[in-house]
Amino acid sequence: MRVAMTTAAAFFALTVAACAETPAGKPAAVAQATPAAPAAAPPPALVKFEIKNGGIPASLTGKPGDAAAGKKIVVGRRLGNCLACHEISTLKNEEFHGNTGPVLDGVAGRLSAAEMRLRLVDATKVTPDTMMPPFYRTEGLNRVRKEFVDKTILSADQIEDVLAFLVTLK
Ligand code: HEC
Repeated sequence: MRVAMTTAAAFFALTVAACAETPAGKPAAVAQATPAAPAAAPPPALVKFEIKNGGIPASLTGKPGDAAAGKKIVVGRRLGNCLACHEISTLKNEEFHGNTGPVLDGVAGRLSAAEMRLRLVDATKVTPDTMMPPFYRTEGLNRVRKEFVDKTILSADQIEDVLAFLVTLK
């Protein structure tokens, strides 16, 4: 329980900091394995993405995500924990709906997939002082536990899965 609490604390203690340009990283799949690699596997490099017209038009993975997998991340307490801040009527059976953020019913009618992708990747690009954690950013995060340094909260695949679920909220 203590571990979970500390993780949550780190998760929610993210504060806003000026975000430098995202470094262009090689996709994990083509990153070369170094024979003399350190014991701990390096975190996957951030996928390069482009922000255009208030959104990120291209899939981070080059393919659409899986809505069912995304739904699990949205309701899961450890990864997305979206329901801590957002209510989604179709998930009424899940506990602890919070109201820090807007109700996500019909969000796909209000925002394009590109706009939602940007909010998932780094909501501070839209609202600099937002409470919403930047799910796909490694820089400018405060009080991150050692094992999470240089890691994003969600992977590129998980961002696309969550987005695929959000797109169903019409
Ligand atoms: C700590 C609270 C918090 C968490 C956790 C959180 N959000 Fe948010 N979210 C917000 C707030 C606050 C906003 C409103 C944007 C702003 O701050 O201006 C928001 C905005 C959004 C929006 C835009 C909605 C609109 O109508 O404009 C989407 C989509 C969204 N969040 C999805 C998610 C998803 C999916 C997750 C989980 C992966 C998540 N959020 C986790 C607080 C949170």
